[in-house]
Order: sequence, then C-alpha cells, then structure tokens
Amino acid sequence: MRTIEQSFSVAYRYPVVFTRGAFDASSPIVHDVVARAGHGPHRVLVVIDSGVLAANPDLPERLHAYAAAHEDVLDPIPEPFVLPGGEGCKEDLSWLADFHRRIADRGICRHSFVFAIGGGSVVDAAGYAAALAHRGVRLIRFPTTVLAQNDAGIGVKNAVNFCGRKNFVGTFVPPFAVVNDFDYLASLDPRDLRSGIAEAVKVSLIKDADFFQRLYDRREALGRFDSAEMESMIVRCAELHLEHIRTSGDPFELGSARPLDFGHWAAHKLEELSSYELRHGEAVAIGIALDTLYCSRKGMISEAECQRVFEVLDSLGFERSHEALGRLEIESALDDFRVHLGGELCVCLLEGIGRAVDVGAIDVLEMQRCVDLLRGRR
Ligand SMILES: NC(=O)c1ccc[n+]([C@@H]2O[C@H](COP(=O)([O-])OP(=O)(O)OC[C@H]3O[C@@H](n4cnc5c(N)ncnc54)[C@H](O)[C@@H]3O)[C@@H](O)[C@H]2O)c1
Ligand SMILES: [Zn+2]
Repeated sequence: MRTIEQSFSVAYRYPVVFTRGAFDASSPIVHDVVARAGHGPHRVLVVIDSGVLAANPDLPERLHAYAAAHEDVLDPIPEPFVLPGGEGCKEDLSWLADFHRRIADRGICRHSFVFAIGGGSVVDAAGYAAALAHRGVRLIRFPTTVLAQNDAGIGVKNAVNFCGRKNFVGTFVPPFAVVNDFDYLASLDPRDLRSGIAEAVKVSLIKDADFFQRLYDRREALGRFDSAEMESMIVRCAELHLEHIRTSGDPFELGSARPLDFGHWAAHKLEELSSYELRHGEAVAIGIALDTLYCSRKGMISEAECQRVFEVLDSLGFERSHEALGRLEIESALDDFRVHLGGELCVCLLEGIGRAVDVGAIDVLEMQRCVDLLRGRR
C-alpha cells in the first residue's frame, strides 16, 4: 500500500467596497475592481433582480454606457439576465438552464465575469449558478438590500433551496469583489429596510457589546431608517461578518460550530413554515427574541439584558412573534439545523451582550415555554 499525502492551501483576497453611483461613467470603482484581474477587456454577463430593474429601469443603459467609458477593462455589456427578485428564484430553478445557455452563447469563460445585482436571494442564486459554470466564473456581487450589503452579499456562501429546505444546495465560493452601492437602498420598501437590521442586532449580540450599545442608543433613528445611521450600521455589521470569516480559522464551516448563526435555527424553520412570507431578517428577529429569552430564563444573561434586546427589536418595528411560531416543532427544527451543519448539534447562544457561547443541547421544554411566552406577548 502507498499513500501520497496531498496538501496545499489557497489564499483568497477580495475587496468589499462601499460607495454610491457605482455605474456612473465617472466612477472608477467598478473599473478598478475589474482591472485587478488584468488582461482586459473582459466579457460580462449581468444578472439583475427584477425588483431592482423595476426601480431602476435605466440600469441596463447605464451599464452599457459604463462599459463604453471603460472599454480598456470591459467588453460591451449585452442585455442583462433578469431573475425574479425574492426567495422565489431560490425556490424555482427553472431559469438555471437558460442562465448556463446564456453563459455558453456569450462565450463567458473563467476569465470573464458574472455581475450579480440584487438582493440576498438573487445574489445567492446567481452566485450558485456562476460557481457551476465552467466550475466557477468570477463573480462580482452588487448587493442592493440592507441585508445583502451587511451579510448575504459579502461572504463566501451561495445557495438555493431544494425539497422545501432552505439553502439545501449550494457552494462555498468567495466572490472576486463586492460593490455595495448605498444608492440602491432608496427604493427598498420598509420591510426590506428593516429586515437587514436584524443581522446587525445578531452580530452585535454575539461579537461586539459596543456595537449593540450603539444600536440601542440609535434605535429610534434606525427605526426611521435614517440614512446616515443605516449606512454606518451596514458598514460595522459587514466588518464584523468579514472579520469572523477571516479570523475564525474555519471560513468554509468545516467544523460543527456556526458562530454567526445566533437565532438562525428557528429563523430558517420559520421561513420554511411561513412559505417565505416572512423575510429572512424578520424571521431572524423572531429567532433572536426566542434565543435571547431562552438565555435569560436559563440564567445565562440577565432579564434586564433580555429586555434591552426586546426594546431594540420593538423600536426597529420587528414583530417578536408570527403565526408560524405556533407550528414550530423544536426538536425536529433543531435536528434539521444539525443535519445542515453536519456533525454534532451546536447552537450559538449568549452568555452576555456581545459574548457568544456554543451549546450542544437545548432544553426543549424550556424552549417551548419561551415560544409560548413570545406568542402570548405580541
Ligand atoms: N449567502 C449568505 O451568506 C446569506 C446570508 C444571509 C442571508 N442570505 C439569504 O438572503 C436572502 C434574503 O435576502 P434579502 O433580505 O436581501 O431579500 P431578497 O433578496 O429576497 O429581496 C427582497 C425583495 O426586495 C427586492 N429588491 C432588492 N433590492 C431592491 C432595491 N434596491 N429596490 C427595490 N427592491 C429591491 C427584491 O426584488 C425582492 O422582491 C435569503 O434567501 C437568505 O437566505 C444568504
Ligand atoms: Zn441570516
């Protein structure tokens, strides 16, 4: 017998830029990001979220003009590939073959680019599709929702749903770059503006007490979606997510722990149970309320701390309950979460504001009491 021990590592590096007017012909941002690939001009297939296109009908024209003004790095940009915005594009994959046909027809190769412009759903779905074409076409994400700019669009994961299960089929593939253009946020409806703030509350609770304090202090302004507050919240939230991916030692989540997923075991199940009527962030807010209450009743955090978390969620306009919560089967939801993670059950909870702790078991009776309490409260 003979064993050859194979070993190599691959370093990843990608910029996450915060800007405005990224496709104004005078903006150097997209030019400079693409130029990092060298040897231009490059072919591009643009994927646009239908909601973003409806709010920005001149976007294809602006992309065209941008490419014309930057022809040293970009080939002329053909008609965009439009994906239905929202969770639907992760649920119904009938567009996937058309997407790959378009990749083939346009001669998109591994040195070309896919630009994905949209919310977390479109960015997740387009990232998945791009990762499959030629075993991976370079992806530049242009996230257009709060949640996509501060979480979904900046990390290393892509996924679609399958068999009624959230993110069941997907890949870990870092993007080539991320361009967060705040201008897109102006056309979001209040539910989508609010939804993304849930991820900031989440990451503050598990990683950064000062950030939680800031969210608490500015909760009224954030509840009004004040632009300056929203932008600074997005940047800090993105920074904490990126720092975690960079420094955790497990960017592709090979271990059992999912330390960024506070409140998410319930959130994913609530999204499924509500047939995605609940936005991801709305479900995360309920998941945060549930796990925070559980931590408080288990003596892991104080009641006062729990109240402060509730105050933030309430001021932001989140509901702490939903009809689907009444149908949450805790044991089976935890088991689905465990299977998705692989390995042992590992749930991220709090041992203080800004301090996370992983636990391997949940007291199901107590968790059920917390569900009942939330359902009775609002
Ligand atoms: N890959 C990851 O690491 C990761 C992390 C968190 C969440 N996610 C995923 O992200 C998804 C949720 O993303 P989301 O909250 O961004 O919502 P979304 O992508 O579902 O979009 C919500 C709605 O907003 C519309 N929209 C998007 N941008 C707009 C704009 N600028 N103006 C007007 N309308 C616009 C869309 O068309 C859609 O109707 C979920 O599927 C979730 O699982 C992925
Ligand atoms: Zn999330």
